[in-house]
Amino acid sequence: MTTRETSPPRPGTSGGVSVRDVSKRYATPKGETLTVLDNVSLDVQPGEFVSIVGPSGCGKTTLLRILQGLEQHDSGDVLVDSQPPGKVATGFVFQKASLFPWRTVERNVSFGLDLTVLKGTPNQPPSKAERKRRVAQLLELTNLTEFADYYPSQISGGMQQRVNLARALAIQPSVLLMDEPFSALDAQTREKLQRDLQKVVAGVGTTTVFITHDIREAIFQADRVFVMAANPGRFIKIYEIDEKHPRGAEFQQSDRIAELSREIWKLLHVPKVEAPAVP
Ligand SMILES: Nc1ncnc2c1ncn2[C@@H]1O[C@H](COP(=O)(O)OP(=O)(O)O)[C@@H](O)[C@H]1O
Ligand SMILES: [Mg+2]
Repeated sequence: MTTRETSPPRPGTSGGVSVRDVSKRYATPKGETLTVLDNVSLDVQPGEFVSIVGPSGCGKTTLLRILQGLEQHDSGDVLVDSQPPGKVATGFVFQKASLFPWRTVERNVSFGLDLTVLKGTPNQPPSKAERKRRVAQLLELTNLTEFADYYPSQISGGMQQRVNLARALAIQPSVLLMDEPFSALDAQTREKLQRDLQKVVAGVGTTTVFITHDIREAIFQADRVFVMAANPGRFIKIYEIDEKHPRGAEFQQSDRIAELSREIWKLLHVPKVEAPAVP
């Protein structure tokens, strides 16, 4: 039974992601070839939340950069919302919040929307009233309404990361890509933000690819968890997490997460030869 059969469909569902037999190699300074991604395949359904968990250096960021269109893959096919990477609007949230220090929280969130007006887009840019409405809704969803007029230096790291998330979602991206977004935060803030993210993504319904090396976090968020191994980077197992969204503290602290997280931990710590790639 899949999660989507048991959860109500999410509103405003966006596009899916298709990665087929993708390989990526880099030349090392010694002139050798490093295979970072080896025949990786991944399908993310519209509105689905997928986590990718794996050790440092297994190619998680490389895969995300390919989805963004910032990195070329050597072979295989990649589609984001049925288009080649880089063609459709994607939202990014990285470890570092990278907000504009001279813009208030509200104007940081509206940044992408302001750009659509400045640069002009193939479609009609949203009206001023629509932009205001969207920003207000996201500030509400991320519990930032009362901090709208603050500057980034006046709010905590956790709040900065919520601004970052709201900003990424303001342009209504087809796909939201997150690369270890909470790893620079303290444990308590991280757990709170994990729950906030559940509420926000369940509310907006954006297709999400979430990268982390925190196994519990991967399970807590996702409809499916893809487990990666390194050298070369590949998926070794996929877990389906059958639990309704938005998920809260009870699930976060549940034995189910603890047990599954132990299982995945063991999988990631077996000697390399014992972990074959999933076909
Ligand atoms: N531009 C690059 N040139 C050469 N090697 C790279 C480059 N980018 C990443 N790598 C190598 O690719 C591997 C995977 O990196 P990365 O995707 O950042 O892993 P992860 O995000 O899982 O920690 C690492 O060994 C890294 O050194
Ligand atoms: Mg990385």
